[in-house]
Amino acid sequence: MNTYSRVIGTGSYFPPKVFTNFDFEKRLDTSDEWIRTRTGIVERRIAEVETNHDMALEASKKAIEMADINPKDIDGIIIATFTPDYSMPSTACRLQSSLGASKGFAFDMAAACSGFIYAMGIADSMIKNGLAETMLVVGSEKLSATLDWNDRGTCILFGDGAGAVILRKDTEPGIRSIYMAADGDHANLLTLHAIGVDFLYNRAKVPPEELMIKMKGNEVFKIAVRAMSDAAEKAVLQSGLSYEDIDFFIPHQANLRIIDAAAKRLKLDKDKVIITLDKYGNTSSATIPSSLDIAVREGKIKKGHNVVAAAFGGGLTWGSMFFTF
Ligand code: UT7
Repeated sequence: MNTYSRVIGTGSYFPPKVFTNFDFEKRLDTSDEWIRTRTGIVERRIAEVETNHDMALEASKKAIEMADINPKDIDGIIIATFTPDYSMPSTACRLQSSLGASKGFAFDMAAACSGFIYAMGIADSMIKNGLAETMLVVGSEKLSATLDWNDRGTCILFGDGAGAVILRKDTEPGIRSIYMAADGDHANLLTLHAIGVDFLYNRAKVPPEELMIKMKGNEVFKIAVRAMSDAAEKAVLQSGLSYEDIDFFIPHQANLRIIDAAAKRLKLDKDKVIITLDKYGNTSSATIPSSLDIAVREGKIKKGHNVVAAAFGGGLTWGSMFFTF
């Protein structure tokens, strides 16, 4: 009998504070028209009081409720984030305590916007190898705290939020394939220096504009189109299923033009592509789990549907997964 991991609950949380493209017009040389046509983003949420942990907690509670499990059933917690509240203790350990979860393992991991796919890869392997039966996997980011609000090429893209899933051991698939890749030769295209020991040593020497998220957007864009499409294709090829079997595609919500290119490669109609970036922008590791949760709660993605998810981000990193919900 085969062992799989299967998503049995989803949750998401976005802070209530809405920040629109028109709010940017008031403070930067940009326009709603430029942001909307170049990215697809209309508004995003900003965490004014919520911490990364608070957002992860709210998303996790919803996933636990949908899965209909007791927090004590959770053997392990992974939070994908590159914007933790602290580097120590991990957000995952604090989340374990807040949830009253069992005292299994808990850790944060960072692979930028691909973080959730990477975390699912680790959780899936752990379940298949008998290290856990039930896991909580979260993507949670407080990106607003890491932005240079004067850099119109980056600050208009990102938002805050969290998404979570409960993964449980099952004899039916479940996760059918996961693919992960990285290319450190392009590490300088997308950086955040302010969170890291190098910053603590060298803060006096680092110019303030170098501290926050810096991105060579156009270069990242070109690589992202190819990498996301390749990744999505690999997940399908490795799954044993075919393109015709895809019910929904959940792409990383970075830019509508990147999403359209990837959907075209997968020969998917628009109604099979889950889009949430118009309302929430790019929430990095939270985009895929929160989009999954939104689609599930809207009744689009139902039990038995085959879903491909693909992400791309700093590192550079990218990855994909094909799963049956
Ligand atoms: O999730 C992590 C992965 N990240 C991504 O996947 C992001 C990938 N990159 C992108 O989405 C796009 O590159 C951006 C949306 C960031 C930029 O769009 P673009 O079409 O690549 O624009 P560009 O960087 O080539 O800039 C074109 C022009 C420039 O002006 P000049 O030099 O032609 O006069 C920019 O200064 O657009 C200007 N520009 C803006 N204008 C108005 C850049 N940002 C803005 C802005 N408003 N917010």
